[in-house]
Amino acid sequence: MKTQLMQNETQMSSGKKSNSTPSILVTFLKQDKDNKKSPLTWVTPSVAQSLENINIASFFKAAKNETTLIRGVSYKSYQGVMLAGMGSEKFDQESWRQMGGALMKAIKANKLSHVTFLFDGLESFLPQDLGAMTEGLCLGAYDFNQLKTASKESSEVTFNFVATAFKNKEYKTSFDQAQMVAESVNESRRLGDLPGNYLPPRVLALEAQKLFKGLPKTKVTVWDKKRIEKERMGGLLTVGKGSAEDPRFIIIEYKGAAVSEKPIVLVGKGLTFDSGGISIKPSAAMEEMKYDMCGAANVIGALHAVAKLGLKVNVVGLIASAENMPSHTAVKPGDVYTSRNGKTVEVNNTDAEGRLVLGEALVYASELSPQLIIDAATLTGAMAVALGNLYTGYFTKNLELKADIEKAAKVSGEWVWNMPLCDFHSEDMKGIYADLSNISSGKGAGSSTAAAFLEQFVGQDKKGNKIPWAHFDIAGTAWAVGNRLNYCPSKGASGVMVRTFLEIIKSKV
Ligand code: BES
Ligand code: ZN
Ligand code: ZN
Repeated sequence: MKTQLMQNETQMSSGKKSNSTPSILVTFLKQDKDNKKSPLTWVTPSVAQSLENINIASFFKAAKNETTLIRGVSYKSYQGVMLAGMGSEKFDQESWRQMGGALMKAIKANKLSHVTFLFDGLESFLPQDLGAMTEGLCLGAYDFNQLKTASKESSEVTFNFVATAFKNKEYKTSFDQAQMVAESVNESRRLGDLPGNYLPPRVLALEAQKLFKGLPKTKVTVWDKKRIEKERMGGLLTVGKGSAEDPRFIIIEYKGAAVSEKPIVLVGKGLTFDSGGISIKPSAAMEEMKYDMCGAANVIGALHAVAKLGLKVNVVGLIASAENMPSHTAVKPGDVYTSRNGKTVEVNNTDAEGRLVLGEALVYASELSPQLIIDAATLTGAMAVALGNLYTGYFTKNLELKADIEKAAKVSGEWVWNMPLCDFHSEDMKGIYADLSNISSGKGAGSSTAAAFLEQFVGQDKKGNKIPWAHFDIAGTAWAVGNRLNYCPSKGASGVMVRTFLEIIKSKV
């Protein structure tokens, strides 16, 4: 995908295009519901003049995200015009993001290769709007077809973005940053979409090393099973025991600020496949458990974006990765292990494994004197039942952090919902034979009790205060978000929360 920002069309090279690569102009239209004679308002009236002979209102309503391609009309040097509807209501940044996604769908469906967007004429089009639109477009461009042998059609498209306002350099900054962010989300999606056999913990670690290679101020360290044993990460070892593929602990450091600046630590659940182990899952939809590493992919994506943008902040990403399999070496229900923080845990259901690996990463995170810890995990089926696939549930007892999360999600356009977490939930996670049980003794609130289990592994700062911590359960939103979001694949990994985490981090710069 090639992109270019320009102030007017004369700068374009597309005029010289041969006829075999038709160049399409995208123009925006609004609805004017009160005007019965002319229900459409053209943002660029000069384009309207060239289409005078066509009764556009008879087939195009300009509803939000509606697109129609009219081929064969001649306007300037274009061989076609694509109409894009903006509806009649307020058009905010998320609207632009959705618009970018909707346009990309239409561009793919029509197999277009040269597309020019004309933004002149819009009442207001801020740098952030251009950023959101570009983000939607680039996120919408994501395809996962690397495992298909049949013709991998190249989706190479050249995009020209035209507006006189682009002489203001804030547009260029917003445009460039949006592409970097979308690239990071798409990297996260790619990892999510890779099947379990292509991406065991060993390969996830290699992928992380590959992705950050050459990025300034970043360092990736990978701990193998031996080192994990030495580090006493009992929960991670316990989960990985049943698999022929050893677990890995991955540390991604980004140093964008002075050493004295406390880092923000992101923690990700990296179950490259979750069969449930001895407490094996039913076979229906078990293949979806290749996505059980989306928390890890999400942390990788967020750190990648931070590094690409060169933010002046210190961030550490920690990924606890294992494959949960049943075998003669696997952990058995009733087994007890000791965590890095000394607590003992009864494993009463081997399918509640995410909390075991995350616990160890949270203990390690707490040792890094962080300013805050955020984790992402496809942790509980109960989360998907409670909130579905649009809202991500998050848990925190820290009100300041809660406010930061809400603000960040407003900017990113991702949907989050604060979930309950209190001391009663912790009560339910007490063990009979050990300090803790990995499943609740009570009924219901499975996502809250899972969060309460994780909380047992978050430490205190030097003054004895609880380290600010938030847990994001992305079980419902990490993949298969349906057709609601134009810039998200309906079936595959969504890359959810990469952009929200990035906004939280940006707010700390
Ligand atoms: N990876 C699953 C959670 C999950 C399930 C995510 C479905 C997305 C869709 C997790 O490891 C798990 O199996 N959790 C159990 C916990 C239970 C045994 C207490 C669950 O949610 O059923
Ligand atoms: Zn599980
Ligand atoms: Zn799991």
